[in-house]
Amino acid sequence: MCGIVGIINSNELKVKSLNILSKLEYRGYDSAGVSFLSNKKIKTITEVGKISKLSKSLTSTYDNFHSVIGHTRWATHGVVSKNNAHPFSDQKISLVCNGIIENYKDLQKKYLAHYKKNIESDVETVFLVLKELSKKINDKYKLIKKLKSILRGNYAFLIYFSDTEETYALKAGSPLSIGKKMNSVYFSSDPSALDEYIYEIYHLHDGDVLRVSKSEVSFLNNNKVKFLPYQQSTNKFSKGDFKHFMIKEIHEQPIVLKNTQKYYDKDYFVDFRDKLKDLLQESNSFVFVGCGTAYHACLTAKYYFEKFTSINVSCEYASELRYKNINNKNSKAIYIFISQSGETMDTLMALKYVKSKGFNSIVITNSLESTMVREANITLPTFAMKEIGVASTKAFTCQLLALANLCLEVGVINKNLNSKEYLKLKKDLRNIPSKLNKILKMDNYLDKIVNLLSSAKACYFIARNNVFPIALEGSLKLKEISYMHSEGFAGGEMKHGPIALIDKEVVSICLNPNNELFEKSNSNCEEILARGGKVIVFSSKTSGSKKNLFEVILPKETYIDAPFIYTMPLQLISYYYALNEGTDIDQPRNLAKSVTVE
Ligand code: G6P
Repeated sequence: MCGIVGIINSNELKVKSLNILSKLEYRGYDSAGVSFLSNKKIKTITEVGKISKLSKSLTSTYDNFHSVIGHTRWATHGVVSKNNAHPFSDQKISLVCNGIIENYKDLQKKYLAHYKKNIESDVETVFLVLKELSKKINDKYKLIKKLKSILRGNYAFLIYFSDTEETYALKAGSPLSIGKKMNSVYFSSDPSALDEYIYEIYHLHDGDVLRVSKSEVSFLNNNKVKFLPYQQSTNKFSKGDFKHFMIKEIHEQPIVLKNTQKYYDKDYFVDFRDKLKDLLQESNSFVFVGCGTAYHACLTAKYYFEKFTSINVSCEYASELRYKNINNKNSKAIYIFISQSGETMDTLMALKYVKSKGFNSIVITNSLESTMVREANITLPTFAMKEIGVASTKAFTCQLLALANLCLEVGVINKNLNSKEYLKLKKDLRNIPSKLNKILKMDNYLDKIVNLLSSAKACYFIARNNVFPIALEGSLKLKEISYMHSEGFAGGEMKHGPIALIDKEVVSICLNPNNELFEKSNSNCEEILARGGKVIVFSSKTSGSKKNLFEVILPKETYIDAPFIYTMPLQLISYYYALNEGTDIDQPRNLAKSVTVE
């Protein structure tokens, strides 16, 4: 995974590289490093930990250097250590990489057999192999071509040679963009991190090899490449008055959902509906694909589509779909990929795989500049704005909203919904922000739940039907940011095993909308209470039960808005519990926001 940056032929390198790296920190924060470059010199500084630590180590101004390459790491091969931190460099070569080199063990055997030292990392292997190859191959382009020919995996590299003062960029699978402003050249794994620095942009394609010498950029594999004008994103990287990005992003949900709904209420759908009609004429099913939180959006979509349309729907983890046989010629499924970042490697690879088999695809994403957008037939945007907290909050609810709107369109096209039903459901969607605002104002339950969780050894989330995926999401939020053991269960499944986990040190959180399953979920709570467990219930209706049960009464829900209404309080309790535990909420241990490795 990781984020890479390059600034060629510019000034204020320390400030700029730290600024860009901190915007890439969502891609990993195990270690960070930079190599400053100029006049045939390389000066490399690395630190274990976050960019703030690297920043403290950069004591000089580095004014006498004209270029820099840098890296923020999410460890894959090799422990988190200074030795495994990028850039890997000596006085001749410095390189940074985002990705995984799968055949690094074979490369070690072939090129580095004489090495006594144990080489843990795939990228250190590449660095050492490049050094070996450079002993025999003088011409830098030939050297890079040779390197490219022996690497297997998904990667993006920046490689600097001090003798020729050239920087090479290679891309195969991992994202990399190059931007320009006057005579300066910038590289980044995520173009939005370059916002204030560039006027023009080009997103490298797989197989691209670029050389930058002084400020001149040559595309060595493709002469037709053109830079396009760069449009600054409106995304802000500020916490405002909030203590963490996560809580800011939770509070932003009413507004970003309103913006997203506005988009889906506009004429846009006239256009989209025509395209969708064409796709539906040759399709008999949808397959929703995602990872992590996005997968929970897929599961929620399944309930929506089953309720409001007659189309067949299934869900797949992207990491599983990639390796499945989908050669079924009779199936005309449309694959719908959901990804906040549009860069998650498993989702991207699943999309490419599906495309290679001739299936149509729709991407629902928050990142309109992302690789997935460039791969899919149709893109549906969410307007969550930049999400920085590693634990996804507002991006998730905006995904739900895009999916709900898509479902209603399909319902109308397939004549499952009449216009009255359609308009009523659209109105329900427009009312979501005001209901969420009400929930944000009710904070009286948070302390009590934080206290209950503080004395618990585990927390289980239980729900049925369309809020069952929200139980899974609530559990994911809690474990991600507080590290408490947590699981989500379908209420009806409790008796088939999970109830064995219940004792007095376990808290169970039951999501119980006021619908035809209300009493069934009440029975689940009673069964847990009968075994000494503690129960917290979120519902729009009181159960009337007295014993040991703490109830939080939420605004009245409808089928389509219930997933939103039950998501927000779970985000809030995870946040406040993690705050109480003192964890690193925006950058929890071992995680990264965008997982760009397999
Ligand atoms: C990581 C993040 C999750 C996210 C998942 C999918 O695991 O920590 O919060 O849900 O990736 O990310 P995507 O960008 O594809 O939605």
